[in-house]
Amino acid sequence: MTRPRRLRATPALRALVAETRLHPRDLVLPLFVKEGITEPVEITSMPGVLHHSEESLAQAVREAADAGLGGVMLFGVPEHRDATGSGADDPEGILNRGIRIAVEAAAGRLVVMADLCLDEFTDHGHCGVLDAHGGVDNDATLERYVSMAVAQAQAGATVLGLSGMMDGQVFAVRSGLDQSTANGGAGFPDTAILAYSAKYASAFYGPFRDAVESTLDGDRRTYQMDAANRREGGRETALDLLEGADIVMVKPAMSYLDVLADVAEQSDVPVAAYQVSGEYAMIEAAAANGWIDRRGAILESVLGIKRAGADIVLTYWATEIAGWLGER
Ligand code: PBG
Repeated sequence: MTRPRRLRATPALRALVAETRLHPRDLVLPLFVKEGITEPVEITSMPGVLHHSEESLAQAVREAADAGLGGVMLFGVPEHRDATGSGADDPEGILNRGIRIAVEAAAGRLVVMADLCLDEFTDHGHCGVLDAHGGVDNDATLERYVSMAVAQAQAGATVLGLSGMMDGQVFAVRSGLDQSTANGGAGFPDTAILAYSAKYASAFYGPFRDAVESTLDGDRRTYQMDAANRREGGRETALDLLEGADIVMVKPAMSYLDVLADVAEQSDVPVAAYQVSGEYAMIEAAAANGWIDRRGAILESVLGIKRAGADIVLTYWATEIAGWLGER
């Protein structure tokens, strides 16, 4: 009498009983704005993803808003880098300029988020400043993050994506924003924090490092997490929740769906997952070779991330997926 196939018989039945659905509002599009270019340039390792000029950034944000996306996440690619990443908190630095452009283009139709990390701005490519022995100095980096946070909040970002994996970064940035005098003494209590809580040291960031023209020589294993550790993902998330994170995130997505499911279970704030550059590049490369059905693989990969527990998915396909969802 029990025939699970009964509910799979027609497209309408399958649609009725689907446990997970994709919606454009759940999707966030990462965007790269590059200093010193006037036309957008395709990123070689991420076919279909562009380095935006300031002009084309505005256009991409308007398209994302037209597509009904939930938000955009901005990354800056500066022309000049130095030891402390001074371009990151310079109000005229490329990322802060990009935030102002995106906020204007979005006109309140979607949420503008900004990556808060130093790696794109430092000449050594690490996510923080270095100590005398070349190690990443956790607490000196926190001061840089606070200054960057204030600059991003001032530029108008609604959500700051803390991706540096320094200990105590959420608390430091939260306190720094609230106590800032940059806003006439009022602070920035309404600027939200999306914490990259369980961010793993991953080979799947490879194409992104090309995208931001990373100068890193070495790795990030003293601050990003070890792929072997599941329980630790929960511990990092618990700390970020205590420190005041408004949204928590797991990154990458596909190789960490167990961690994502744990975090979704434990978190009392929205949970995001980042489908990273390597996940994007793998599907694109297989599809370009005719080895995989591109659209089917993209939709299945994002559905899997939602099914595992993500409320919000950062994906380079966000605008395209929203277009497909609109066709149905
Ligand atoms: C750090 C940062 C990285 C990504 C997002 N923020 C790279 C890293 O930690 O090396 C990776 C995103 C992707 O691979 O798509 N600013």
